[in-house]
Amino acid sequence: MTKVWFITGSSRGLGRSLTEAGLAKGDRVAATARNPETLHDLVEKYPDQVFAIKLDVTQRDEVYRSVAYAIDQFGKIDVLVNNAGFGIIGAAEAFTDQQVRSQLETNLYAPIEVTRAVLPQMRKQRSGRILQISSVGGRVGNAGLSIYQAAKFGLGGFSEALAKEVAPLGIKVSCVEPGGFRTDWAGASMTYAREVEGYESSVGARVSFFTSGKYIPMGDPDKAANAMIDLANHPDPPVHLVLGSEAIALLSQADAARQADLKKWLPVSLSTDHQEAVNFLETKEGRAFLNPKTN
Ligand SMILES: NC(=O)c1ccc[n+]([C@@H]2O[C@H](COP(=O)([O-])OP(=O)(O)OC[C@H]3O[C@@H](n4cnc5c(N)ncnc54)[C@H](OP(=O)(O)O)[C@@H]3O)[C@@H](O)[C@H]2O)c1
Repeated sequence: MTKVWFITGSSRGLGRSLTEAGLAKGDRVAATARNPETLHDLVEKYPDQVFAIKLDVTQRDEVYRSVAYAIDQFGKIDVLVNNAGFGIIGAAEAFTDQQVRSQLETNLYAPIEVTRAVLPQMRKQRSGRILQISSVGGRVGNAGLSIYQAAKFGLGGFSEALAKEVAPLGIKVSCVEPGGFRTDWAGASMTYAREVEGYESSVGARVSFFTSGKYIPMGDPDKAANAMIDLANHPDPPVHLVLGSEAIALLSQADAARQADLKKWLPVSLSTDHQEAVNFLETKEGRAFLNPKTN
């Protein structure tokens, strides 16, 4: 069955690939962009399937207006994709206040707001899919990306909680977590903080990595688009879907380090329980609570 999509940031990169793939498959798309002119070719090619809608995701009135327009034209929204976003690199102390706010407004507040705008319709439908284009940087922290990753970790937390909240309504939420993909993300779209002395080996190394021209992301945006279409059609989608080998390598390392720390520091973690809890944990029930696998 064909679906109705609402996609933010359809002008370029992953959002553009996904918009094109959905249309090619016969789906209908509310394709949104800061400059809808960028979607002109798609409107010409698929006049019965696509609306190009102006949406700067940081503008609350545009968010609610574009969602209402899409519902009015298509009668429903089956899949919301919060894709619009950009990267920012630098030392945490070096960003301007404006840079921090603009990053959080675009990559965190905006997807939360677009989700909140679409939810009443999905609740009425008792169905819907929400794909949050987060990042492997929403699961693993790296020097130089503190503010970007604060936004993406935030989006992951919001989405994981939301997935549990809306499951009884027939709505499924997935965080899509790409590693490097060949879009403008690390190139023309990237923004930087001023350089600050002392961070050469951490932040400086990451900046050089991106600006050297030697970084060639491993991911193919068109293949990511196909994976996202499959995800939106899957009856049992995961809450987190990692995309690309880079992301898998990074996350596997980070997960192993987290597990090792959890184990190493377990005595300290457990030492803070109230005596009543200590007594409970010595029972069979208590042991099963702490480690369901031993049950
Ligand atoms: N590519 C990667 O390696 C990678 C990895 C992990 C996560 N991601 C995430 O994937 C998503 C898409 O990025 P991309 O790789 O496709 O990068 P991209 O090629 O730079 O595309 C970014 C898209 O976001 C749009 N956008 C930015 N700010 C916006 C705003 N305020 N309102 C509306 N649209 C806005 C851009 O629109 P304009 O054309 O108007 O600028 C563009 O369509 C982002 O959330 C990014 O963080 C990318």
